[in-house]
Amino acid sequence: MGSQGIREWAGIDTFAPATQTKLLELLGKLKQENVNTLTILVIGKGGVGKSSIVNSIIGEKVVSISPFQSEGPRPVMVSRSRAGFTLNIIDTPGLIEGGYINVIALDIIKSFLLNKTIDVLLYVDRLDAYRVDNLDKLVSKAVTDSFGKGIWKKAIIALTHGQFSPPDELPYDEFSSIRSEGLLKVVKLGARIKKDVSQDFTIPVALVENSARCKKNENDEKVLPNGTAWIPQFVQTITEVALNGSESIRVDKKLIDGPNPNQRGKLWIPLIFLLQYIFIMKPIEAFIKRDIANESRPSWEIDE
Ligand SMILES: *[C@@H]1O[C@H](CO)[C@@H](O)[C@H](O)[C@H]1NC(C)=O
Ligand SMILES: *[C@@H]1O[C@H](CO)[C@@H](O)[C@H](O)[C@H]1NC(C)=O
Ligand SMILES: *[C@@H]1O[C@H](CO)[C@@H](O)[C@H](O)[C@H]1NC(C)=O
Ligand SMILES: *[C@@H]1O[C@H](CO)[C@@H](O)[C@H](O)[C@H]1NC(C)=O
Repeated sequence: MGSQGIREWAGIDTFAPATQTKLLELLGKLKQENVNTLTILVIGKGGVGKSSIVNSIIGEKVVSISPFQSEGPRPVMVSRSRAGFTLNIIDTPGLIEGGYINVIALDIIKSFLLNKTIDVLLYVDRLDAYRVDNLDKLVSKAVTDSFGKGIWKKAIIALTHGQFSPPDELPYDEFSSIRSEGLLKVVKLGARIKKDVSQDFTIPVALVENSARCKKNENDEKVLPNGTAWIPQFVQTITEVALNGSESIRVDKKLIDGPNPNQRGKLWIPLIFLLQYIFIMKPIEAFIKRDIANESRPSWEIDE
């Protein structure tokens, strides 16, 4: 039994023995540093493999994946405990809808996170994309506006489809580093992390391959094309960020309601109502009053 009714993290037992050993070592390291609970927030555009990452780490199919329909609108938190350590992973719906930030999804995510503490932010995108665009900037801006710049000190960029073979015989490591650099640049731009403080935000990039057909090494561990067993490497990066000394982000009412461009936009709404009242409702009211006044008099009286 897990602590406080939280399910046992039994999925670890499905990993290759070598991976299990490394994971249990990392959990031991966290506990040694008095980190007994870790909450990971998974965020990104739709269809980049957020839910698959959750399933890969938990080692169970805990979140359903539906690539052909829009994702569920609600975030889901999966909790598992093992040897006195509890892992919470929060999967969220895609943040982009029709080329814009899905403000409703973002608001739902924010209220879901109220009173929770984010220890690690997983910003998910795909490795097999050739360019970065404005959408990446919008997502990182929305994350910053919602949770503050400090959340990027707790961030990891996770690139899925890590088994991808680059075109034109570009070496794998070179392709993945070009892709990582490009994405990091646009994320920092959206997060408004200026060049002079950029080195304070060294956001690590982790490669992930969620496919069941992922290649394996002689120890039966899932590996990237360059031979790295990705699950232990990924969990190690998570451990490093968790223990990295920067503060975790506690999501309270103040943080959620704090001034951000969306909230500021909302201040205009009463003014718009007032203007509508003055220029539209007032004349209509006057017209109706006159109409009523005329009707209350018999028509012969008016004709007079
Ligand atoms: C969050 O915490 C505040 C203060 O600790 C409390 O008043 C509030 O009810 C909590 N809200 C939720 C949704 O748990
Ligand atoms: C494999 O690629 C990943 C991502 O580029 C990198 O972090 C890792 O160090 C590489 N491993 C080897 C053995 O080159
Ligand atoms: C930890 O965060 C600091 C910024 O607070 C950063 O400079 C450092 O590189 C981070 N370390 C890791 C391992 O992410
Ligand atoms: C009401 O009657 C006045 C004349 O008594 C007229 O000028 C006015 O147009 C009428 N208003 C309406 C709404 O019919």
